[in-house]
Amino acid sequence: MSPTILSVFCLLLVLQAARVESGTNWYNMFMFGDSFADTGNSPGSGTGVPTRLSRAWFDPYGLNYEDYNGHWQGLSPSGRFSDFMVQSDVIAKIMGFHEAAPAYKQSNNFCHPYGMTLATVGAGVFYTPDETPTLGEQVDTFKRLMYDGFISSTRLDGAFLFVAISGNDYIPKINLFGNTSTNSIIPLTPYIENVTNEIVANVHRLQKLGAQKILVNNMHPLGCMPRHTRVNNHTRCESHGNFIATAHNSMLQQKLGNNSNVLILDLYTAFTNVINNQTPDSQRFTFKLAPSCEANEPEGFCGYRDGSLHHFYVLDEDHLFKHFYWDDMHPTSAGWKAVMKQLEGSIKSFMS
Ligand SMILES: *[C@@H]1O[C@H](CO)[C@@H](O)[C@H](O)[C@H]1NC(C)=O
Ligand SMILES: *[C@@H]1O[C@H](CO)[C@@H](O)[C@H](O)[C@H]1NC(C)=O
Ligand SMILES: *[C@@H]1O[C@H](CO)[C@@H](O)[C@H](O)[C@H]1NC(C)=O
Ligand SMILES: *[C@@H]1O[C@H](CO)[C@@H](O)[C@H](O)[C@H]1NC(C)=O
Repeated sequence: MSPTILSVFCLLLVLQAARVESGTNWYNMFMFGDSFADTGNSPGSGTGVPTRLSRAWFDPYGLNYEDYNGHWQGLSPSGRFSDFMVQSDVIAKIMGFHEAAPAYKQSNNFCHPYGMTLATVGAGVFYTPDETPTLGEQVDTFKRLMYDGFISSTRLDGAFLFVAISGNDYIPKINLFGNTSTNSIIPLTPYIENVTNEIVANVHRLQKLGAQKILVNNMHPLGCMPRHTRVNNHTRCESHGNFIATAHNSMLQQKLGNNSNVLILDLYTAFTNVINNQTPDSQRFTFKLAPSCEANEPEGFCGYRDGSLHHFYVLDEDHLFKHFYWDDMHPTSAGWKAVMKQLEGSIKSFMS
């Protein structure tokens, strides 16, 4: 099929989809960033042995424990870094869709009626693992799909976009920032300047391509992630990570806060409210800093098993509904609902 025919086809599907499914005047969505929004771009594993990046294609990921009622729901891991929904799914639900747009990698360049997800696990603006495109490279791909006609430019008229950059630029070397006890000190403020500049530059590129409404995450409290609370037996957040997140957020606010077509999603406050018992939903999470699924050793990860299927992680099966965090970096599906419920009102008024 030629690109032109393909995009006409897509346009028809879009109108159909909007009528049937969404009930709003937002017809589709395009999702960028990292594992908070990845719906299946992460690399699979040819060998059957999960890696840190491919782990979301293996159980116990994606088995929907929240709806567990004595038997599994026939679900299987879908490349989402959660027990069920990731942040972008919950946003899509708020906007009247069933779930977030499918992954680009699974799309064969075909533009799905609800849009496309380019977000990929591990992505940052600078730092990314080998197989992961940076935010800028994701926007390059999006631009190419538009220029080639695979995504019709008219689709942006009724689209909302989402950008999730959640710490991969900081996390792998978090101990090096402003740390005078190591030789390789990275000066924190100039680095945060660079990271936030790059987020803003890509938001501007999307606006130039025609994006009208863009949701952009601020930085969640990095020091509360189980990978950082583990050293304290998951009893308290670690202050260095939260300091970095706070500094990032104030720079991002300065640079994007006045952009009337951008809504910054204040994940920092929403996470902190759950963790500090500041929302009614806090009650349900008996375990606010300890993950549902944890590796046996600090360098391991949830889902790891060897070729003979020996597991190297522990899943807290007795309290599956009671954890805010799913693994060492990501909230549970229930955790995401509790976070996004706090932001739903501002998302809806921004969109209307
Ligand atoms: C500084 O780096 C060292 C070595 O990586 C680490 O043990 C220490 O916790 C770091 N300090 C801070 C404040 O991050
Ligand atoms: C920030 O970006 C500037 C300009 O590209 C570069 O010269 C500088 O080294 C960067 N600083 C850090 C800390 O990454
Ligand atoms: C964590 O818990 C273990 C076992 O209960 C205990 O031995 C250890 O001292 C605790 N560590 C901290 C930092 O509290
Ligand atoms: C945004 O607005 C605030 C106050 O209204 C102002 O101080 C700031 O300089 C503005 N930032 C930009 C990037 O225009």
